[in-house]
Amino acid sequence: MSDMTYDLIVIGGGPGGYVAAIRAAQLGMKVACVESRGTLGGTCLNVGCIPSKALLQSSELFHETQAGLAVHGIKTGKVSLDLKAMMDRKDGVVAGLTGGVAFLFRKNKIDYIDGFGTFTSATTVSVKLNKGGTQVATGKRVLIATGSEVAPLPGVTIDEKQIVSSTGALALEAVPKEMVVIGGGYIGLEMGSVWARLGAKVTVVEFLDRVTPGMDGELSKNLQRVLTKQGMTFMMGTKVTGAKTAKSGVTLTLEPAKGGEEKQIKADIVLVSIGRRPFTAGLGLDVAGVKADDKGRIPVDADYQTNVPGVYAIGDVIAGPMLAHKASDDGVACVERMMGKHAHVDYDKVPGVVYTWPEVATVGKTEEQLKADGVEYKVGKFPFMAVSRAKVQGDTDGFIKVLADAKTDRVLGVHIIGPDAGTMIAEAVLCLEFDGSAEDIGAISHAHPTLSEGLREAALAVAGHALHI
Ligand code: FAD
Ligand code: NAI
Repeated sequence: MSDMTYDLIVIGGGPGGYVAAIRAAQLGMKVACVESRGTLGGTCLNVGCIPSKALLQSSELFHETQAGLAVHGIKTGKVSLDLKAMMDRKDGVVAGLTGGVAFLFRKNKIDYIDGFGTFTSATTVSVKLNKGGTQVATGKRVLIATGSEVAPLPGVTIDEKQIVSSTGALALEAVPKEMVVIGGGYIGLEMGSVWARLGAKVTVVEFLDRVTPGMDGELSKNLQRVLTKQGMTFMMGTKVTGAKTAKSGVTLTLEPAKGGEEKQIKADIVLVSIGRRPFTAGLGLDVAGVKADDKGRIPVDADYQTNVPGVYAIGDVIAGPMLAHKASDDGVACVERMMGKHAHVDYDKVPGVVYTWPEVATVGKTEEQLKADGVEYKVGKFPFMAVSRAKVQGDTDGFIKVLADAKTDRVLGVHIIGPDAGTMIAEAVLCLEFDGSAEDIGAISHAHPTLSEGLREAALAVAGHALHI
């Protein structure tokens, strides 16, 4: 391909960048997307959402077959694990989906430039091609969608063998006997669940006194309790100050977060999952004149435009939750606004889901936030123990909590821990987006027997008249 001029160059082919590219092409722009990893789909499809959910699915089936079928009267022989086959399946799912994005690019006539992009001016990107050589692309507009990378932990060097990031944890060649997870957030609890279900003894070391910080505190507490029941161990209020690797394993030095006596624990595998940070290395932001803040995030205005006119940014590289659907929502809104449309994302209404079992799903304000904001609210709660479908499935852990304005009954937040919470939260998102009330959810017909009946009951409970409790 010779050097080309485009209406839009997107740097980064993750769920932010590739979705923006598709929407821009749909709106009539001539688009190129520069991606360096050799496949499209970004962190999410290659080493994030998709492979982790594939392993969560497989490990859940393994665990269920081992321990959950007898109660249904299903007898099995000895259940054994073929880890390589499990990993191959995961890789197949990833390949299918990343290939699907490449197909969508061809369908939408988007030029996929396979290489690493660097600004040579605010409108020109030089791409070091993976096949060798360089290609220069010029854009009327350039969209930065370069995503994020693992946040490092001083004193604990990731080698992706014994001390791994999420990427290494998605590709272990054997089930560790002892696994220590540093950080009890999204990645730690999801990947910890995978390896615990496959037989590892998993210990989570968390700096704070709660897991999944930022989520409603009652959910966090409940999640920790359920995961403990499943066999995971938690060391709360603890920090890791150093790591030593040897053939026999890794020795970690720990101390209380507030300071105090040191102690050591050993593990075969250590997962570092203390967060992610924006990735812009080698991009040449300074050459383009684009500013980043002290956390490496690129500040943008309501049009997702950076401080340099014509240069935009979306996804993990800007502020906000580092979630795939948020990145895609940014991408669509960004290119629609370029074309004069009035797209808008309400960041208070972006759902978050932790895909442990039970799942945790949340949207809107937490109780802690409402208290801090001085908002008067009512709480409606309903346990899955009293939801007939949950009983049928044998998935009775957890509850649904609806928070509504005390005066207007407007739903301000919905927090679910339970089976398929991630699917159920969509109804709550819709309600929040339409400024619906708890009474609205309570008045809507919900098919029986479904898990969603629990949401209706929790909404009815706001006014004190849940039916089945
Ligand atoms: P990315 O997906 O990171 O994509 C950026 C792309 O840009 C990368 O492919 C990178 O190679 C490329 N790139 C960077 N610099 C250049 C350059 N100079 N030239 C060319 N290419 C470049 N989110 C969810 O919503 N649900 C989940 O279940 C979920 N699970 C996750 C599990 C794990 C283990 C991890 C790590 C993350 C998970 N996430 C999940 C988060 C999600 O993956 C990110 O929020 C999302 O991928 C961000 O999208 P993005 O497009 O902004 O960036
Ligand atoms: P996280 O921010 O979710 O959790 C990090 C945890 O590490 C926090 O609980 C924090 O208190 C703790 N921590 C920080 N420093 C520590 C230290 N020194 N010692 C011990 N604990 C420490 O980050 P995580 O899990 O790495 O995931 C990164 C991001 O990727 C998530 O925030 C999320 O945006 C995204 N993600 C989303 C998923 C989903 O949507 N299901 C799944 C996986 C990742």
